[in-house]
Amino acid sequence: MSHSDSNSSSPGIRIAGVSKVYSGTSRAAVDDVSLDIADGEFITLLGPSGSGKTTMLSMLAGFVSVSAGTIEIDGRDVSRQKPHKRNLGVVFQQYALFPHMTVRKNIAFPLQQRKMTKAQIAAKVGEALKLVHLEEYADRLPSQLSGGQQQRVALARAVVYHPRALLMDEPLGALDRKLRDELQREIARMHRELGMTFIFVTHDQHEALTLSDRIAVFNEGRVEQVGTPSELYERPKTLFVAQFLGESTCFRGDGGVTVVRPERLDLHTDAASVPDGHNRVRATVTDIVYVGNHHQVGLRFADGTTGSAMRVAGRSLPAVPGEEVTVSWDPEHQSIVADPADDPPPSESAATPPLGATARA
Ligand SMILES: Nc1ncnc2c1ncn2[C@@H]1O[C@H](COP(=O)(O)OP(=O)(O)OP(=O)(O)O)[C@@H](O)[C@H]1O
Ligand SMILES: [Mg+2]
Repeated sequence: MSHSDSNSSSPGIRIAGVSKVYSGTSRAAVDDVSLDIADGEFITLLGPSGSGKTTMLSMLAGFVSVSAGTIEIDGRDVSRQKPHKRNLGVVFQQYALFPHMTVRKNIAFPLQQRKMTKAQIAAKVGEALKLVHLEEYADRLPSQLSGGQQQRVALARAVVYHPRALLMDEPLGALDRKLRDELQREIARMHRELGMTFIFVTHDQHEALTLSDRIAVFNEGRVEQVGTPSELYERPKTLFVAQFLGESTCFRGDGGVTVVRPERLDLHTDAASVPDGHNRVRATVTDIVYVGNHHQVGLRFADGTTGSAMRVAGRSLPAVPGEEVTVSWDPEHQSIVADPADDPPPSESAATPPLGATARA
């Protein structure tokens, strides 16, 4: 066997400098996006409404043409290939099942298009029904199923022919919270069992954090940051990423914005208890909200900055609303990002501690 093939080092799916400008518009809906997706990876495109997620997924699937750049699958440029030639499974928010066909016939449809034998089709449909736990519903029509069950059928139909990757655009968007959580776990299980590349679109940060190996955060057509859920949460590179994924207290300073997550902030009634080397700022407790497993402590700092700290329920609270406290944190756990309000943006090395913060040597 030869080791000269370059495919062994090339990623499964490569998006290289891809842009989309829809005809009749001047602003790019997707703007110079590059992203390598590894084989078997669960990657999520996360971003607010209008940030270009669906456009990016549609270009991958081949439903929308690229204006610039290339899309490669296994080293092959597919940018100009028809959708069915790309061998990708696709699931959208709307179930898009054939209403006059039973569950079994819906799932069999892509196999019939691929001209498989009856025996092959029966075996593969059986496997797919089992995968989504719908064996008992095989002979029902879509109208006789719940929304969650219909979406399971759509998932089964999208993977039944073992596509190269499964593309999903807000597949749980139409479901209520409980069903959403349930299907999230189902999708995670399907990913483990199939070992297939999953490319998932959502604007729900919790969904993205729960499901993904990596997340690409979209903002105005560009990818702001790509990383594992913990990289994005612990080490956001921009204010947008910090604020889009979770809560944080943002101290604006001359050198940029210092971002601290609520679970990293400690509260002290006695400033002497602040550990050496930790940053400290005085604040007033504005409110304390009990959220079941923790308390959320609202804070107002001297410069007007508001923020929050988190305290695990069951541990005593060090203060009551209206009281002044010293807020401290380990500088190891802060992120310093450029302030979009500054022009030009400062470099990270120029960053100074936040207003009023001092570290004890
Ligand atoms: N067919 C089209 N023609 C012109 N502009 C379009 C077209 N489709 C989308 N756009 C524009 O492209 C931008 C990105 O849209 P896109 O649907 O990709 O966003 P999205 O991130 O999927 O948003 P959402 O979360 O609301 O689904 C938006 O400004 C949108 O108005
Ligand atoms: Mg969309």
